Amino acid sequence: MAKHPINPDGETPSEVDPESYPESASIAPSSEAPATRVSRRSFLSQLGAAGLAATASPVLAATPAPAAPAPSSAIAEDAATEGAVALTLKVNGQSHALQVDPRTTLLDCLRENLDLPGTKKGCDHGQCGACTVHVNGRRVNSCLSFAVMHQSDEITTIEGIGQPDHLHPMQAAFIEHDGYQCGYCTSGQIMSAVAVLKENVGPTDDDVKQAMYGNICRCGAYSNIVAAVQQVRHSS
Ligand code: FES
Ligand code: FES
Repeated sequence: MAKHPINPDGETPSEVDPESYPESASIAPSSEAPATRVSRRSFLSQLGAAGLAATASPVLAATPAPAAPAPSSAIAEDAATEGAVALTLKVNGQSHALQVDPRTTLLDCLRENLDLPGTKKGCDHGQCGACTVHVNGRRVNSCLSFAVMHQSDEITTIEGIGQPDHLHPMQAAFIEHDGYQCGYCTSGQIMSAVAVLKENVGPTDDDVKQAMYGNICRCGAYSNIVAAVQQVRHSS
């Protein structure tokens, strides 16, 4: 009798004693619960995972783990202290000794270092006038100027112009004429308007508008702002 190609001893599969096979090698259907059997798919995936681990482990073992990135606050703190320069600023009549990054704008220095948030940051690009302050009596956009450039200057912010219990006449006129809505541009508008009182500006409303053209009001309170400025000009 010809040898069976799978079972050379001539036994048909039905004649093979199932007890002679190791249990783990069985591929025949079994009465075991599916959860305890190793399926072809799970076997291959385990093999793949084991192969990947075997291949990768020497590489992983030889490569030092990357250092955890430093928190961004720590980086900012280092940058702030590294290369900081000593600076004395005179603001609203008071001298302040500071250590600042030389790249700090006058606007950021006033708001962040000196805690004077009345000066607003609008565009931060010299286009809106929200950051207007006085330097030696002249209006400037503080976002366009480095703090270290003002070592010996007299700087005045909206906090130095007046206080709620002692308003500057321009502040009072803005209130009287509703020269603001959201108020974000208002400190810059008032600082420009106070400087206009000392500038050679013509008498008409158009002259005032021209003089104040660098101060943008997104709420469109322009006519009321001009009325406030004109009132103060005529009464002073
Ligand atoms: S914030 Fe300075 S001009 Fe706009
Ligand atoms: S009052 Fe809102 S931007 Fe001028």
